[in-house]
Amino acid sequence: MSSNKFKSIEDLTILEANNELKKLIKDIKYYDDMYYNKNKSLISDAEYDKLRLRLNEIENKYPILKSNNSIANKIGSPVNCNKFLQVEHSTPMLSLANTFNKEDVYKFIEKAKKYLKSKDETFDYCFEQKIDGVSLSIIYNNGKLYKASTRGDGYIGEDVTNNVLQIKDIPQYIGDINGELEVRGEIYMPISTFNKLNNKYINKCNNILLNNDLFINSKKEKFSTTRNAASGSLRQLDPLITASRNLRFFAYYISSNNNILTPKTQIEVLELLKKLKFNVCDYEHGNSIEQFIDYCNRIQEIRRDLDYEIDGTVLKINSLEIQNKLGFVGRNPRHSVAYKFPAVKVVTSIKDIEVNVGRTGKLTPVAILLPVNIQGSIISKVTLHNFNEIINKKLAIGDEIIIEKSGDVIPKIVCINNKKNNNPIHIPSNCPYCGTELVKMDNYIDIFCPNHYSCPEQVVRYIIYFASKQCFDIEGLGSKQVNELYNMSLIESPIDIFKLENNQDINILLNKDGWGDVSVKNLLIAINRSKEITLSKFITALGINDIGGTIAIDIANYYKTIDNFINTNQKELLNIKKLGEKRINTILHFINNAININFIKELKKYIKIV
Ligand code: IVH
Repeated sequence: MSSNKFKSIEDLTILEANNELKKLIKDIKYYDDMYYNKNKSLISDAEYDKLRLRLNEIENKYPILKSNNSIANKIGSPVNCNKFLQVEHSTPMLSLANTFNKEDVYKFIEKAKKYLKSKDETFDYCFEQKIDGVSLSIIYNNGKLYKASTRGDGYIGEDVTNNVLQIKDIPQYIGDINGELEVRGEIYMPISTFNKLNNKYINKCNNILLNNDLFINSKKEKFSTTRNAASGSLRQLDPLITASRNLRFFAYYISSNNNILTPKTQIEVLELLKKLKFNVCDYEHGNSIEQFIDYCNRIQEIRRDLDYEIDGTVLKINSLEIQNKLGFVGRNPRHSVAYKFPAVKVVTSIKDIEVNVGRTGKLTPVAILLPVNIQGSIISKVTLHNFNEIINKKLAIGDEIIIEKSGDVIPKIVCINNKKNNNPIHIPSNCPYCGTELVKMDNYIDIFCPNHYSCPEQVVRYIIYFASKQCFDIEGLGSKQVNELYNMSLIESPIDIFKLENNQDINILLNKDGWGDVSVKNLLIAINRSKEITLSKFITALGINDIGGTIAIDIANYYKTIDNFINTNQKELLNIKKLGEKRINTILHFINNAININFIKELKKYIKIV
């Protein structure tokens, strides 16, 4: 039953109430389990709240039905209990600008001097490691930990106090200190914990994964980086899960309205934090940029031996008075700057080359690698631009190669380190998924499978796209589910999505792993909800090459109805500014194809464009 179709409470008999209550309890427990333990929201907060309100309503009307340990009392407030409360930061939690070399650092300091209008000013500095974790603010009230929050958007974060109380590194009482005091720093997950959590056996010295099978087969939850792991573990709704994740904390900032605690420099800040029993990140006092560069080089050398990830170092002007004078520009301070380490290069080897076929039919080669850990990310494949990259780099399966990754940048193959195989990689002439002969376009760089309507891979990719947020936005119909439904022949084209509710075969899902009646019911609800769609999203969902959400809005604004659009011509299309010649041709090609027009006509029978 849809949660907003409840029978009026006045009319509900005790028998009906009993039945409904049982079902509500079962559903709520299921959603709680998915949310708390599996990090999945299957229904919106509003729908969940409605279930809980209904439960309260029934229990209030028939207290006799209420069990002693009713789930209504179990998880905090019944309304919105599956969310973290918001916390406004007293001063914004902003971020550091980046530098990548000595020259950048000199420029940064010159700017600071210029801002202070004192060219000859000499600063002393605090050099620190830049911890690759998630920032946290902790407020102490009269010495007692009272609120901890994530950075969020810098201005408003999430209240994670209950979870932070589980982190051993963070003192809950810092002594008899009057007033309010804030400590900020970085939550991180040790690399050793991360490896254990991901159930991987990585020899950190030579970075080669020893037990490859375990990595591939482990069904446990996997985090791709230590930072994701720290963030995911901190934002658990069950503090006991956080407690089990061995999160650690390095502090680097304190601010208080207590007159006794008055550090004058960043070094004094760190010393005070140590006195208050916080762990602080590695730091050094220095007087010049040359010294800072030397510090960076030394930290880079020892980086591999640390049990936590760092992504650089931080240069901070030591005097807090000068820091205050310098203030901020945009979201970055003028007094402190990050120095990012250059991209890390790691040796691994090519195990295989896979070929992906996208929803438009374009083939993309993907090098499957012996998995390696680069700065806390497990890299097991690298997407290549096109087949030319394979030819130009003379790549072959078995070759030892060098890959590099810097920060959040997608990893890439730099070159071959040791050629082990001279057999060139075979560039397919037929689609690996449907066997259709491939066609070469755009100066032979890109290869396409032209079988758009029945290549299984293209169809699946298109259905995934069709159901995605930017198109029909069908919650619970992601890549995994589409693949399953396609393999069971329940969905073979996007239109089948809307036929599902009347398809008797859907019952096979009821006993299938990962499905069950609640999931099926939720999927059908989500599909029903998606049936009302805006014209721009509908146009986006057609999957016309190069026509994404932004351009679709312009097209929708111009044509107002789908019929106007599909009956358009080149002259009219020229009125839409963002459409160049290539896109206009693609649109004309699309609307001149009877298969596409029939598809739209058929689709319109099931949906409503609003
Ligand atoms: S000082 C204005 N010191 O890096 C922010 N931040 O991009 C001043 N971080 O949000 C922060 N180690 O989460 C500072 N030793 C360190 C740090 C550090 C890691 C993080 C922090 C900050 C981000 C800046």
